[in-house]
Amino acid sequence: MPIGLPAELLVALRRARRVAALTGAGVSAESGVPTFRDAQTGLWSQYRPEALATPQAFQRDPKLVWEWYAWRRELVGRARPNPGHLALAEFERRLAQRGAVFTLITQNVDGLHAQAGSQNLIELHGNLQRTKCFDCGRPAETWAEDGSVPPRCPACGGRLRPDVVWFNEALPPEALTAAFEAAQACDVFLSVGTSGLVEPAASLPFEALRRGAVVAEVNPHETPLSAHATFVLVGPAGEVLPALVQALSRQ
Ligand code: APR
Repeated sequence: MPIGLPAELLVALRRARRVAALTGAGVSAESGVPTFRDAQTGLWSQYRPEALATPQAFQRDPKLVWEWYAWRRELVGRARPNPGHLALAEFERRLAQRGAVFTLITQNVDGLHAQAGSQNLIELHGNLQRTKCFDCGRPAETWAEDGSVPPRCPACGGRLRPDVVWFNEALPPEALTAAFEAAQACDVFLSVGTSGLVEPAASLPFEALRRGAVVAEVNPHETPLSAHATFVLVGPAGEVLPALVQALSRQ
């Protein structure tokens, strides 16, 4: 069944000089990446996310937290970008051809947008494939395989951790500033596959609305943004986004 795309949205996207998009776990669902809470299955079902994804949890049981992330890293390592990720990368290339700017802000830590070819990308919650030191904060790319779990920081001997933003942690300030600037400066804002429950990312579409941007939501389910968005495109990102990009290429 063809997806109904509002003509006014297509007009706004064709005219836009700046477009920003915010994505969440929903955009990776069709790549088989479980959302944060869905990932709590099998072996790990006895733990609440708050029990594993906080600095306090890491301090209490660093081995447990490291091993949980190692398991998630392996899951994500097998995933590939889906048509939704690819459509966003294609959209960026098309906007660039006519001198317009596209900023992609993601809450996902799976790295699939970069794999799909997105360039102007803000990873607000970090990246699962990167590692840093819990104690000194330096990034680490290699470390001694001496059986320590978590491994030791090559710079200070501290404990290594995934470079993601945990509950009770601040977002990287440059990424946060760049995300708010993009939301405030854009003509059109797309909110894709996010429940809009987690701040500060949840405020970005409202910031865009406040500045007069057209805001379109792509989600199979209603969210707190739905009643406020200029357009709501109900459906999976892997179908709606390719249809949108295809429609934009038709004159
Ligand atoms: N296409 C688009 N959206 C989808 C799809 C799909 N195929 N499948 C599910 N969704 C929608 C759901 O309806 C839901 O609104 O994706 C959203 C996923 O919501 P969450 O699981 O809450 O994910 P997200 O919004 O990314 O969570 C934000 O919270 O758990 C923390 O730090 C974690 O980055 C995460 C943040």
